[in-house]
Amino acid sequence: MPDVPAPRTGGSSATPELRRLGRSGLAVSTVGLGCNNLGRAGTATQTQEGSTAVVHVALDAGVTLFDTADSYGARPGLSEELLGVALGVRRDDVVVATKFGMDVRGLHGADFGARGSRRYVTRAVEGSLRRLGTDHIDLYQFHTPDDLTPIDETLSALDDLVRAGKVRYVGHSNRSGWQIADAEHVARARGTERFVSSQSHYNLLDRRAELEVIPAARAYGLGVLPYFPLANGLLTGKYTGGGRPQDSRLVRAKPHLLESAPWERLDRLHAFCQERGVTELQVAFGWLLAQPQVTSVIAGATRPEQVVQNVGAAAWRPTADDLAALDEIFPAAEKVALF
Ligand SMILES: NC(=O)c1ccc[n+]([C@@H]2O[C@H](COP(=O)([O-])OP(=O)(O)OC[C@H]3O[C@@H](n4cnc5c(N)ncnc54)[C@H](OP(=O)(O)O)[C@@H]3O)[C@@H](O)[C@H]2O)c1
Repeated sequence: MPDVPAPRTGGSSATPELRRLGRSGLAVSTVGLGCNNLGRAGTATQTQEGSTAVVHVALDAGVTLFDTADSYGARPGLSEELLGVALGVRRDDVVVATKFGMDVRGLHGADFGARGSRRYVTRAVEGSLRRLGTDHIDLYQFHTPDDLTPIDETLSALDDLVRAGKVRYVGHSNRSGWQIADAEHVARARGTERFVSSQSHYNLLDRRAELEVIPAARAYGLGVLPYFPLANGLLTGKYTGGGRPQDSRLVRAKPHLLESAPWERLDRLHAFCQERGVTELQVAFGWLLAQPQVTSVIAGATRPEQVVQNVGAAAWRPTADDLAALDEIFPAAEKVALF
């Protein structure tokens, strides 16, 4: 299947271009805003004021995709609440994506671990609509597979939500290749809504999505939304050369990732950037946006200036020579030979 063409391109460095999300009619900006920092303890976005500042700068910069989940925030649901208030009257100008299916500590009542069940999904959506202050969710994503519930039950429940106008499109996240294929064929056989997007861990430092998720997304026309696109900040360049900003996520909350980071590769990335006169941020965004099926890079941000930098960085596009050099530094994940 050929790559999905963009309906409108040519965005300037100040305005991200739009791309279709997979084979769907939903167009989203190539830079989205990941909202798992909204309501995150210890960040400038833990408050409504801090969240609104980031969201408003994103809106003004032309970001049209806002990705949250019912599980995000210091308490489940908080990110959705902060996003809903921050968007306010501009809600209909953008695509609101949220998720269900992670453990939300009883937010939607007892779930018995079956968070893909009809019983659970129909309750979860009402909570997300209320917290977001909206009457519909543009993209409702099944956050992680539920081993207890057959996928046909989840698809049937999601189909009802689309028919009821509560949800416009459905997507999934953290699914393996076979699970993506299974969901696609069950939906086709039953005539229910098909998933239009796949959200997976994917960045220069972790290319495992290329083994199964990207090929499956390509085969079924799904848009890919990479999460951890900046590897929690490692790919921004701010830690390279021994930098340890005290107010950053990795210093504050994930120091083990700094200890285990592949510094030799990150130093080579720095040299690559110096030679070409680009920044690490440009490479992190531009490389992902050059990969098949990748629709939007939903980087998180804790400060408004990060959003401005990220939107600017996303305009860079690597040449074939750049891509080959990056393959040398960050090799693709190894396929396991079966025969
Ligand atoms: N489906 C899933 O299971 C799943 C899992 C994880 C995330 N997600 C989604 O994916 C989104 C992106 O992931 P993420 O936000 O966790 O990770 P990320 O995009 O890899 O890293 C974002 C962090 O990098 C730092 N940063 C961002 N822009 C920067 C800039 N211009 N300069 C310097 N630092 C910058 C910020 O942290 P500091 O300022 O604190 O350093 C920011 O919080 C999430 O918001 C969420 O919507 C989905």
